[in-house]
This record gives sequence, C-alpha cells and structure tokens, in this order.
Amino acid sequence: MKLTCNNITVDFSGLRALNKVSLSVETKEILGLIGPNGSGKTTLLNVLGGQLKSNEGSVKKDNLDITTMPPRLRVKNGLARSFQIVRTFESLSVFDNVKSASLTTSKSNVEKNNYCNEIISYIGLNKIKNELANTLNYGDRRRLEIARAMATSPDFLLLDEPAAGMNDNESEILLNTLNVIPKKFNVGILIIDHDMSLIMKLCHRLHVLESGETIAEGSIDSVKKHPDVIKAYLGKDF
Ligand SMILES: Nc1ncnc2c1ncn2[C@@H]1O[C@H](COP(=O)(O)OP(=O)(O)O)[C@@H](O)[C@H]1O
Ligand SMILES: [Mg+2]
Repeated sequence: MKLTCNNITVDFSGLRALNKVSLSVETKEILGLIGPNGSGKTTLLNVLGGQLKSNEGSVKKDNLDITTMPPRLRVKNGLARSFQIVRTFESLSVFDNVKSASLTTSKSNVEKNNYCNEIISYIGLNKIKNELANTLNYGDRRRLEIARAMATSPDFLLLDEPAAGMNDNESEILLNTLNVIPKKFNVGILIIDHDMSLIMKLCHRLHVLESGETIAEGSIDSVKKHPDVIKAYLGKDF
C-alpha cells in the first residue's frame, strides 16, 4: 500500500506554509520528514491526517482519493497519527486508553482485547497496563499515544516528534519499538523528529522541507551530502 500527497500547497493568511510538496510512503517503510523549525512539517502531517485542508493538491491512499475525507474516516481507512502534544484520556487506564482507540476497527470484542494486549506488551506497557494515564511518566505517555495509534490497526502511522522531551534512554527504547513496527504489523511510518541520531538510525528515506518547500529527498547518505540541506542545518548537528 502507498500513501501519497501531490503538490500540496497551504496558505495561512498571507504566509505560504507549504508550496507544492509531494511525497509518498509505502507500508513496511519508514520515511523521515525533517527540516528546520517552521518549515511546514506539522502542517503537512495535518494535511495527511485530515486536520487541515490544503489550498491545492491531493492526498491518496493507493487509488482512493482522501483529499476531502474527515480525520475519523481516514482513521477507519488505515491512517493513524500522533500529535506533537500528547493526547490521552487522563482518567482512563493504559488498557482502556488503548481499547477505546481500537473501537474504530471492525474486530470482535475478543479480538480487540487480544490485539490491544498484543500492542501493549509489544510497546512495553504491560507492567503498567492498569495504571491511570495521568500517573505515567512522560516517556510512557508518549508510548501510550503510539499504542493508541497502533490500536486502530493502521496501514500508516504518522508521528509528530514522538521523541520530543525524552531522555537518551527513553529515545533508545522508542527507537527499538518503532524499528520493528513496519515489518511486524505491515505498517508504513512517516516520522517527524528533531533528534537526528534517532532519525538516521530509524529511517529508510528522508524528505527535507525548508520554508515550505522540498529541498531534498532520498537516501540518508544522499540527503546528508545535499548542499541545500547542509546550508539549512548550518551550525546544527546534522
Ligand atoms: N494555524 C496556523 N495559522 C497560521 N500560521 C500557522 C499555523 N500553523 C502553522 N503556521 C505557520 O506555518 C509555518 C509552518 O509551521 P509548522 O508546520 O508548524 O512547522 P514545523 O512543524 O516544521 O515546525 C510556520 O511559519 C508557522 O508559524
Ligand atoms: Mg512541528
């Protein structure tokens, strides 16, 4: 399966946040979306997830045009996303948070329970599955958010800075979890993150934005050597 966007343009009252951006991600692959602050990464994820309408361009899942499809229908069609700011149900347990996300699927109740338990152990939340979400530390909350996204049985997972605010140990655990998701669950991942060492270890391909424009795309090696990328990241550890 393939998630594609073509010539996406987004204007915010006078500011062009995205200018004719096109990319695609396939199941079983991890695509990194990188670029300086304000380059349009979250805006593009919002267009893919349906939280924002683009002024121009289209979004497709295989041959299905989902450009105008509302977010909850996109979830039903296999698109799950996490947000830059954690969104969980604070007063529900870890298990109930994950279970509530699985309600969008057509699985039977028993299948939902089994699948949620599988996801919870896989993401490493088993020991705390009966704890309330508001008692979790930051790293666990971020992983709970990914577990909730996975509970919708997605074909594509859109992750906005999942490692933000994590310490080195927490990012390492996240890296190991995300690394195996594509092949184990037949999912394609589109990930935004500022942690370049995580991105370089995790991603199969990169897409680089600067000021709303694509400045490079391709393998990690080719992107790292690209003069525009070096310029955009000048003075930063890339
Ligand atoms: N809702 C909005 N209204 C107006 N401007 C916005 C809005 N969201 C984002 N922007 C602007 O669009 C640009 C891209 O933002 P964003 O996609 O959040 O960048 P990134 O995620 O790469 O840091 C920035 O200049 C930002 O200030
Ligand atoms: Mg952002």
